[in-house]
Amino acid sequence: MIWHELDPLVTTIGEALPEVEGMALVAGVAADNLDDLDEVEQALVARAVPKRQREFSTGRQLARLAMSHLGVPGDVIGRDSQRRPIWPEDLVGSITHAGDIVVAGVARSDSVEGFGIDLEEVDRVSQKLHSKLLTVNEIELSRHSDDRLPALIFSAKEAGYKATNPIVGKFIGFHEAEVDVDWAQKQFVIRYVGDHEPNRIMERGLGYFTFFERYVFSLFIIR
Ligand SMILES: CC(C)(COP(=O)(O)OP(=O)(O)OC[C@H]1O[C@@H](n2cnc3c(N)ncnc32)[C@H](O)[C@@H]1OP(=O)(O)O)[C@@H](O)C(=O)NCCC(=O)NCCS
Repeated sequence: MIWHELDPLVTTIGEALPEVEGMALVAGVAADNLDDLDEVEQALVARAVPKRQREFSTGRQLARLAMSHLGVPGDVIGRDSQRRPIWPEDLVGSITHAGDIVVAGVARSDSVEGFGIDLEEVDRVSQKLHSKLLTVNEIELSRHSDDRLPALIFSAKEAGYKATNPIVGKFIGFHEAEVDVDWAQKQFVIRYVGDHEPNRIMERGLGYFTFFERYVFSLFIIR
């Protein structure tokens, strides 16, 4: 279930993405929500710059709003040593921020094993980043494709990483995964081409994407 809180952004996202039972996604504009955070959460960004405090505090607030849509009490969302959010028991979740927009979501872990969301400003994925973020095959494909493909691949990989890393626990480099995009269906799959077998669970997932304004948004779900 996708819940609409910020139009037109969430309408665009909501229309492009599937209805997933037991999942709620909420988007908002980054604002100073520090006073509404728990002390544990406040301490995590006490010394951060104001922009980081806004995106962090808004992400936590939106994640709690998503929880409320699932009928789950809004609990503290800590952070582990790998900077992953610590979700309340029986939930999985994901947070992303770009520009001044923040999107957060949660899902019941009996509906979804893991999921990741990622928002990117398309223009920020400049040509000089391509060799770092894309494999040789992906660079070759980009030469004959929509100009936005490199940004989409980057966003898809980050969403895939956010879904997979909390399950497997091992870093995945940008050259260890290749994204296959189905433009007509607005879906993607990810092939894991590295050598850490457990990361192959990425290949069970399915991704969804949409472009709006200057952004690309990706959702990757492992059921
Ligand atoms: C962790 C990472 C994916 C975050 O993406 P980003 O575009 O930099 O930033 P976003 O705003 O989209 O996401 C940040 C949020 O991701 C979440 N996050 C951080 N580390 C995470 C992890 N290991 N797993 C899942 N979520 C994570 C946090 O909620 C964070 O926000 P918060 O600190 O306010 O809670 C990115 O910094 C990274 O390390 N990428 C390298 C690995 C990778 O993506 N490989 C791709 C190969 S498949």
